[in-house]
Amino acid sequence: MIIPIVAYGTKVLKQKAEDISSDYPNLKQLIVDMFETMYEASGVGLAAPQIGRSIRLFIVDGSPFADEDADMEGFRKVFINPQIVEESGEEWNFNEGCLSIPSIREDVSRLSKVRIRYQDQDFNTIEEEYDGTKARIIQHEYDHIEGVLFTDYLSAIKKRLLKRKLNDISKGNVKVDYRMKFPLKKGR
Ligand code: NI
Repeated sequence: MIIPIVAYGTKVLKQKAEDISSDYPNLKQLIVDMFETMYEASGVGLAAPQIGRSIRLFIVDGSPFADEDADMEGFRKVFINPQIVEESGEEWNFNEGCLSIPSIREDVSRLSKVRIRYQDQDFNTIEEEYDGTKARIIQHEYDHIEGVLFTDYLSAIKKRLLKRKLNDISKGNVKVDYRMKFPLKKGR
């Protein structure tokens, strides 16, 4: 089932999400629905707050990048209760976008490596290190469960320049070809 993705300005996107236990209701189905929702929106990552749930869960599938980066083939994963243990390496810029902030993309600088501890779908605890584009997708999705959006990293000037566009997104005044829910949309 496709779940509408909540847009910029929705409160849940600014909340720190809560850990879940293995008896979280209908977790398996929720994960299936999140993948379906992400694929329909042509995304490479989706975090639970983006579908209105303030829980520490996100999914990734980097295979759309596999054409340019063979390493991304098969990078399809579920992260439950993740904690970033360490970030290291060099700062690098990557042009980020977000399914909750359609039509805006901006360069964001982050460290190149991330060590993350999380639970898989069977609640086995796993610790792994990722770098490059994989690390970048994980860092972006991890931010969502911490209540952080990529626009939070932009300079004050850039934020001011984007203010009207972001406000339009919250109101639903944006062209988007997947299902969304807008916090400031009037009527209907
Ligand atoms: Ni995002």
